[in-house]
Amino acid sequence: MVASEGPWLWIVVGALLVSALAFGLIAETRAANLRRLTRLAEAARRLSEGDAELGTALVDSRNDAIGELTEAFRKMAASVAEREAALRGADRRAWILIDSVASAIVTFDSGGHIESMNRAATKLLGYATQELCGHGLSLLLPEFGELPGRRDAMQTGKADGEFGSAVETNARRSDGVLVPVHLSIAAIRFEGRRFFIAVMTDLTDIRKAEQARDSFVSIVSHELRTPLSAIQGALALVRAEITGELPEKTRSMIAIAHANTERLLRIVNDILDMEKIKAGKIAYDFRAVDLPSLLEQAVEANRIHGAQFDVNIVLAPVPHVCVRADIGRLTQALTNLLSNAIKVSDDGGCVVVDTKVGSQTVRISITDQGPGIAPELQSRIFEDFVQGERSGGRKRSGYGLGLGIARTIVRDHGGTLDFVSQAGRGTTFFLDLPLADAAGDACDSSSATAPGG
Ligand SMILES: Nc1ncnc2c1ncn2[C@@H]1O[C@H](COP(=O)(O)OP(=O)(O)O)[C@@H](O)[C@H]1O
Ligand SMILES: [Mg+2]
Repeated sequence: MVASEGPWLWIVVGALLVSALAFGLIAETRAANLRRLTRLAEAARRLSEGDAELGTALVDSRNDAIGELTEAFRKMAASVAEREAALRGADRRAWILIDSVASAIVTFDSGGHIESMNRAATKLLGYATQELCGHGLSLLLPEFGELPGRRDAMQTGKADGEFGSAVETNARRSDGVLVPVHLSIAAIRFEGRRFFIAVMTDLTDIRKAEQARDSFVSIVSHELRTPLSAIQGALALVRAEITGELPEKTRSMIAIAHANTERLLRIVNDILDMEKIKAGKIAYDFRAVDLPSLLEQAVEANRIHGAQFDVNIVLAPVPHVCVRADIGRLTQALTNLLSNAIKVSDDGGCVVVDTKVGSQTVRISITDQGPGIAPELQSRIFEDFVQGERSGGRKRSGYGLGLGIARTIVRDHGGTLDFVSQAGRGTTFFLDLPLADAAGDACDSSSATAPGG
């Protein structure tokens, strides 16, 4: 029985063994493929999270579909890694650049929260690099809310690029000390988000230099005024021949010396005036003044100066109105405008002074037919020491203070001073003054004869 069953048994056992082996092999292949696929899936997951390292390290040398897929994935991961590295490099370069700029740079979001600051900003303001991130910008720029246009531009979100013009303001350091800075802010839209970049330049040194200049000018002026006044007075006496008759040649020399001393004294007085004006130290003696006599006096006082350069001043009829004025100071403002008009006029030219009365104000206009004010100068013309190209040497006078002084005097009279100018056709300065209260003091015309200092 066993002998007859023998071969079948072996066949069956053999078949079983072969099938077990085949199953084993299939199971093993499946498990290996599953491992390969799992590895691939893990690399894909990591890549999606931004980590390309595993993907670039995948090796599968088998020559089947999974092998091909793995190799394609490895190439893709390698190219992603390469691009990321390039981007990181560009990012770093950009940041290194921003960090090396001498101006302080602070970025903040539309809620006014600080996001980052460069090295110059941390140095200027005395904070550690990340210390201020998330804090409100007002910690650094206490006056930010009041800066013209800043809040609006942030809230409306309209502005792109630079908004508003650059301003001077104060930044607060970590120790509470305020630092004067020049501030400009630009709005930036990036990846659907708006943020702002503030660039600040420290003005401390410039301010110190300005102060040094101002005090130097002031000391020199004070020291010069007394001796200059004495020289001018003495020359006036000699010139009037009170000390004795002068030979013809000496007389003309004395006249030149006298005129130049007067000019120097005028400059010194202008500088000292500017100082007083800035410090708000001018004491005005306001009274109701008759406008025609005031203007006649002012024009008369400048007529000789005009005649020296063959420039005629024409005063159009002045309506009888009263203005509240300090005669001396208002005459000074008018003289500054008239002397400029004379200075820019051609020989034989004419300067016209005209008056128009409105319901509350009177407008005095001074018109010349000079070359006009250069467009690039127009916005700065009232600033200290700002001058156009010097006209002929003989008409030289002043140091660019006259218009600033005139504007401040007019403003202190409750008025405004402005101009219109056309290249090649001339300039008109407008002086708008409030009319004196009719119920106030009686209009004083006599005092206009004695302009004070
Ligand atoms: N009527 C005018 N026409 C043309 N330019 C003028 C006139 N008035 C003033 N300016 C320009 O404005 C500048 C500043 O005037 P001002 O403050 O009076 O200083 P300064 O007379 O000492 O130069 C002048 O240097 C001149 O270039
Ligand atoms: Mg002048």
